Amino acid sequence: MVGYAFMGAAHSQAWRTVNRVFDLPARARMALICGRDAGKVAEAADRLGWDEHTTDWRELVARPDIDVVDICTPGDSHAEIALAALAAGKHVLCEKPLANTVAEAQEMAAAAATARAGGARSMCGFNYRRVPAVALMRQLVAEGRLGEIRHVRASYLQDWIVDPQFPLVWRLRKEVSGSGALGDIGAHIIDLTQYVTGQQIAGVSAVTETFVKQRPLPSESSGLAAQTDGGNVATGPVTVDDAAIFVARLNGGALATYEATRFATGRKNALRVEINGSLGTVAFDLERLNELEYYDATRPAAEQGFSRILVTEGEHPYLSAWWPPGHIIGYEHSFTHQMRDFIEAVATGADPSPSFAEALQVQLVLDAVVRSAEAGSAWTTVEPALATATL
Ligand SMILES: NC(=O)c1ccc[n+]([C@@H]2O[C@H](COP(=O)([O-])OP(=O)(O)OC[C@H]3O[C@@H](n4cnc5c(N)ncnc54)[C@H](O)[C@@H]3O)[C@@H](O)[C@H]2O)c1
Repeated sequence: MVGYAFMGAAHSQAWRTVNRVFDLPARARMALICGRDAGKVAEAADRLGWDEHTTDWRELVARPDIDVVDICTPGDSHAEIALAALAAGKHVLCEKPLANTVAEAQEMAAAAATARAGGARSMCGFNYRRVPAVALMRQLVAEGRLGEIRHVRASYLQDWIVDPQFPLVWRLRKEVSGSGALGDIGAHIIDLTQYVTGQQIAGVSAVTETFVKQRPLPSESSGLAAQTDGGNVATGPVTVDDAAIFVARLNGGALATYEATRFATGRKNALRVEINGSLGTVAFDLERLNELEYYDATRPAAEQGFSRILVTEGEHPYLSAWWPPGHIIGYEHSFTHQMRDFIEAVATGADPSPSFAEALQVQLVLDAVVRSAEAGSAWTTVEPALATATL
């Protein structure tokens, strides 16, 4: 694994747990973790449960006893690490968004296709697909229970940078993160809605905004406190969007709205999706992730109404391995489910999803949103990905 902070910790917990919960054809062994600071990565290896640690990710790629490379770094290093790992024949799990640019994502998807021919698999970490209620939404849509999908309404709201004194961390610098709320949380709802509906975004009209354009530079020691220079606070420009909102047409005929923002005061990590079809509606709220709201319009009029499905039955996706019905699960389980699906695919020679090609398609949507916003919200078609044959 490369990176040991937020996602590094979430993935480590999942790698630690996955073999103990699921009956899998292969076991994960947590061999080597990489970070740039020798002291901190040593401490992280101990805390998170890794056998060894290094400050050079190339060691991961070069070691013959390592089969899987898990990339948990910011987007500016995804392409370089993934390309090297794939060239070395490793299976690769890479955090989202796949890359910082379409060009990088295209190169990664092409490399993944080449590596696949040699037996290496790759997947992008859109973990919310693995929340059981989300997987159940997809099942209901796929079974035709919602009929024809007419509307998709998706929002992902946070508020962690409402304070203009919040420092200029890497997520606010385009050269490291690629984009702001759009690529960080917008990418999740793009992937999630495409996954659930089985439809792809064909075109968009977008607005983006950077509300706070200048922020204090983070201190090197804490990363959070503002840097001071003779009593003055040194600042730098925010080079990404704080919020991105767009309307879209899906290629199956649905109309959709998307909202991704870090300025929704009071909303901490509020991911919500509602899908309206000719025969019913499903609605999901991450803050109540064990539940799915379902409206079945085929029931007699006198009995119609939203029902709350408690998604904890053994029949529900992923849940037979966990607890008795009603014993709820949480955010971190989505990562354990992600590792389960990845290990199963790698061990059986199947193709894990979302593939790099699927993640490239999300990147193309992000790119269309940026181009639309730059062109005064002009209707912008999502560029087709490279032909599947070349991926
Ligand atoms: N799936 C999700 O829900 C989710 C949530 C948060 C972040 N992410 C994604 O995960 C990735 C990491 O985000 P995070 O929140 O964990 O960030 P973070 O800042 O918490 O951690 C980043 C880690 O990468 C390390 N790092 C950075 N550059 C490196 C390099 N060149 N070599 C080695 N290590 C390096 C840092 O030292 C740190 O350990 C991003 O792509 C982000 O979009 C996904």
